[in-house]
Amino acid sequence: MKNLKILIEEEKLQKRIEELAEQINQDYIGEEIILICILKGSIFFTVDLAKKLKNDIKIEFMQVSSYGQETISSGKIDLKLEITGDVQGKDVIIVEDIIDTGETLDYLNQYIKQKKPSTLKICTLLDKPERRRKKIDVDYIGFTIPDKFVIGYGLDYDEYYRNLRYIGYIET
Ligand code: IMP
Ligand code: MG
Repeated sequence: MKNLKILIEEEKLQKRIEELAEQINQDYIGEEIILICILKGSIFFTVDLAKKLKNDIKIEFMQVSSYGQETISSGKIDLKLEITGDVQGKDVIIVEDIIDTGETLDYLNQYIKQKKPSTLKICTLLDKPERRRKKIDVDYIGFTIPDKFVIGYGLDYDEYYRNLRYIGYIET
């Protein structure tokens, strides 16, 4: 793609994920954790993070979609895929690729809370706070980034570019 610029290099990405895993390892010593991977965007992040965790972990998947223009979240969330395991009384971490307006995580957070986990935390690789509409308490943040539309490492534009090993953006 023309004008594709790198925002976060692969090496920097992996180093930061290592640090996040270390933080989680320290916060959950001896505890079992259920990671909820939010499809499709956070699949690469969840896999790399999970490999670095020392705890016993289980992985669940959820998929939601927000209607709206390709690059702007509308706030209307549609549940596409539900978790299959039981999270009641468990230590749960929602693993997300990016928080933009916050609408998606606000929905997911409330949704999982209803299932009565013992603890519920949020881990996001990227945080784009400029367009936030919902206040979200995020426990683990990889990188805070400016309001650019980013792709790669799970993040797509029109379903493409998820397989890039770095986070990029299109210079306009
Ligand atoms: P929110 O509901 O506005 O916080 O948006 C969250 C969802 O929108 C993310 O899970 C992504 O799927 C998508 N999204 C937001 N910003 C970007 C971006 O810069 N690149 C790719 N997807 C994005
Ligand atoms: Mg997503």
